[in-house]
Formats: sequence, structure tokens, C-alpha cells
Amino acid sequence: RTSTGAILRSAIRLPAPFQLPLRMPPVLEPVARDGKADRYEITAREAAAEILPGVRTPIWGYEGIFPGPTIESRRGRPAIVRHRNDLPVPTVVHLHGGHTPPESDGYPTDLVLPTRGWSGGHHSMHDPAAAITEGTRDYTFPLDQRAALLWYHDHRMDFTGPAVYRGLAGLHIVRDDEEDALPLPRGEREIPLLITDRTFAADGSFDYPSLDPSLTRVPGVTDSYLAGVLGDVILVNGVPWPVHEVSATRHRLRLLNASNARRYELALDPPPPNGPAFVQIGSDGGLLESPREHGSITLASAERVDAIVDFGRYPVGTEVTLVNRLGAGSTAQVMRFRVARRERDDTAIPARLSEVEPLRREQAVVTRDFSFRSGRHGDRHGWLIGGRPFDTGYVAARPRLGDVEIWRFVTDLHHPIHLHLVNFQVLSRGGRAPGPLDGGWKDTVDLGPGEAVEVIARFDGYRGRYVFHCHNAEHEDMGMMATFETV
Ligand code: C2O
Ligand code: CU
Repeated sequence: RTSTGAILRSAIRLPAPFQLPLRMPPVLEPVARDGKADRYEITAREAAAEILPGVRTPIWGYEGIFPGPTIESRRGRPAIVRHRNDLPVPTVVHLHGGHTPPESDGYPTDLVLPTRGWSGGHHSMHDPAAAITEGTRDYTFPLDQRAALLWYHDHRMDFTGPAVYRGLAGLHIVRDDEEDALPLPRGEREIPLLITDRTFAADGSFDYPSLDPSLTRVPGVTDSYLAGVLGDVILVNGVPWPVHEVSATRHRLRLLNASNARRYELALDPPPPNGPAFVQIGSDGGLLESPREHGSITLASAERVDAIVDFGRYPVGTEVTLVNRLGAGSTAQVMRFRVARRERDDTAIPARLSEVEPLRREQAVVTRDFSFRSGRHGDRHGWLIGGRPFDTGYVAARPRLGDVEIWRFVTDLHHPIHLHLVNFQVLSRGGRAPGPLDGGWKDTVDLGPGEAVEVIARFDGYRGRYVFHCHNAEHEDMGMMATFETV
């Protein structure tokens, strides 16, 4: 494998990082707004993108772009998204963090077959309950939930990793009146940053190693098996090492780790002369109750952190690099901000941001235990939950609608664990109090090697079948997913 760094140096003569401007994914306009909902149409198709200057990279993109277009919604106003699949393979779309009825949640066997037809079977078609559609599918997202940064991505069984790596991911921002009333940075001072890593092959294509989806043997690519697929260059909103000019004011960075497997510890270099680098105001599920200060922010796959950075603390002309302390070489740098000018700052960080109803241990009617480990199951080897690889015929938990439950997770290695349908609160980590970034409503929680975490959730909203899984996309594809059904 050729490294992207080598390609950058030779083929495209990008002399150094931080040459390319940051881009914002375009906001998708609805095709119709009626009394009840906003209607959107998205076509997933093959396209070519110029990610490295002068290099053509074949992608799979929603609307042919990577990241896909951003959808902006208001709380309580449904979005109905018609997804059309012009790709050569079946797809499944999931709105990550969405409080969504089961038929629109993208259960991994609810395939949308390609418009050009599909003759290659798929073992997920053996799921008798699968709702398979041909060519298109309407996903209805009620969005009756707090303002938050959600994202949509592919979720097909055994094939999420390669599909997302090729580009099938986009942002979906939900806003509400409560958040709008706060004096937070907005407009161009609110910056969504979708962070991913990729390796490019010598021909410019994304270099994704082949994993063994059948789990019948230990895949040859041992590193990918253990760590998931890691890229060797970091892209922000689809741009390698971008640079972005900012005024010397507070900015709201809406961080999403959309990488298949990489974890980041984000910090500012140089650190601001006084005070913490980041003031966290929100998490996966929207605003925290009150702000929290951090010198650095750790983000595992699929996690989001909403953070204020005050560039007013730097002299005009400072170049501030967003670095990744968990990376090395080319993966140690994410992007750069150039503090370009003084400007009046009329924003503030309120001491009280929102109401977060605490769920208490005594409210839980059930406690369930799940181990996340690699291992054998019969003749199959893969990543297992409770000793089993994903099996659509097996329901691992049946919470009753409206019940509060505690789910306890233990892991062997790093696994970011994600629940569909519900947001949860972290009750404990390693037998102690939750960590500094565990606050607020979460939908994904990262566990370190050998760690145990308890989360608490109310299973309300919809009856039906959903999944929970490791959000390391390769672990997920190799079995680390299970079904739960609200009854
Ligand atoms: Cu972000 Cu089940 O997914
Ligand atoms: Cu995992």
C-alpha cells in the first residue's frame, strides 16, 4: 500500500498541509414543504471527487458528493426523505441519533435495492422480517426531539464499513426555539466539522482493505480486524488538512467523528494563552445543562461534541492548529484556523444552557449486561455481543415501551457502543463517576480496553425492532451488533 502522504508529496505537489480551504457541505433544499412535513429527495450515486488537488477519487455519494448535503430541520417538524439508490449495491440509510419509528430507522436488512436491479443475493435477505424495497424508499423522521447534530449514513448488514468509507455520510442538524434563544455563535461562526480519515491508493481511489464479511475465518488483515480501518490522512468536511479563516471571536465547533474506526483527542496548538481550549456546550443528544471546560476533547467513532472556542484570546495573525494527540505523523494534524481580524463579539456562553432531566438509578426496572468481545461462535470468528455475532433472528433485549433500564457494558478492547432509538445518560465508568465528556444525553459511549460502563435510558416513543452495536464500522460488520425490540 502506498501512503497518502507519499501521493501528496509526489503526484499532487501539495507542498505542506493547510493549503486547501475548508468547505461546508451544501444545505439541501426541500422539494416540498407542506402543512405537515418537509420533503427531501436524495440519490446515492457513483461520482468522482477532487479531494486531493488534481486527483480524481471515485466515491459513493449522497447526491454524488462527500460529505452528503446537510439537512436542516426544526424540532417536531417531520422530514420525509426519499432515498433513491443508483449505486451498484443495496443500501440502507440510518439517521444516527434520530428518534425514529422502526420502519424508517434503517434496520440492517431493510435493503433498498439498486435502481439498475440486483441479482447478487445477500444473506441479509434471509431475514423474514426484512422490508426490502426496489430503487427508492421514503424514510420518515418525526424529529420530535431536542436540537442536536445528527448524521445519516449507510447501515447495510456486513457492509457499513466499505459503504461509509466510500462516502455515504452526511449531516442532519435539528434546531429548536430553546437553542435559538441562547446568545451562541451562529451563521458563519457556527462550524460543523465532519472528521474522517482515509488512505488513498496510488490511482487516487480510497484504499479499503477487503475484510471477510462471512466471518468464517480470521480475516487476513489483522490490523483492520483488531483496530478497524484507519486512514493515513485526516479529512475535515471532505478536505485534507483544510485551513479556515476566523475572526477573533467565539466560534461554535460542531464536531463529529465520522471515521470508521479512528479515535481522536483534539487539542489546540498553540493552546490559548489563558483558560481552557474548549468549552463544551453539547453532546450527542444536544445541549448540556451547563458548560464544561476541557483542555482536549476525545471523540470516538460517531460521537459528537459541541464546543465553543474563543479565538479572541489569540492575537490577530495567529495560526491555530487543531491537532490530534492520538495520531502520529500525518494523522496528528486535523486542520488549521487562521485568526484573521478583530470583530465585535456579541455572543456569550450562558451558565445555564438547557434542562436535562436526570434519570436516576432507582427508576430502572431492569438491568441488563452485555459483553463486547472478539471470539468464536461455532466455526465463525468475529466480534461478539454476549457471545454472539449479529443474527437477525435473535433478540437480545425486549424493553417495555416507556420503561427505564440500565444497560451495563464490558469490553475487551476499545469499542464505541451506540444505541438506536434512545438517548442515554452515563451512570458510571469503571465503577466510578462518569468521565468529563460523559455529560448530557449520549447515543454513543466509548469504552476503553477492559472497561465497564453503565448507561440509563427510557425506551419511549416507538414499538419495534432496533439495533445496538459497536460503531467501529469494521467491528460492526464483523458481527458486533444485536437487535433489541421495544414491546
Ligand atoms: Cu451511526 Cu447504527 O449507527
Ligand atoms: Cu468495536
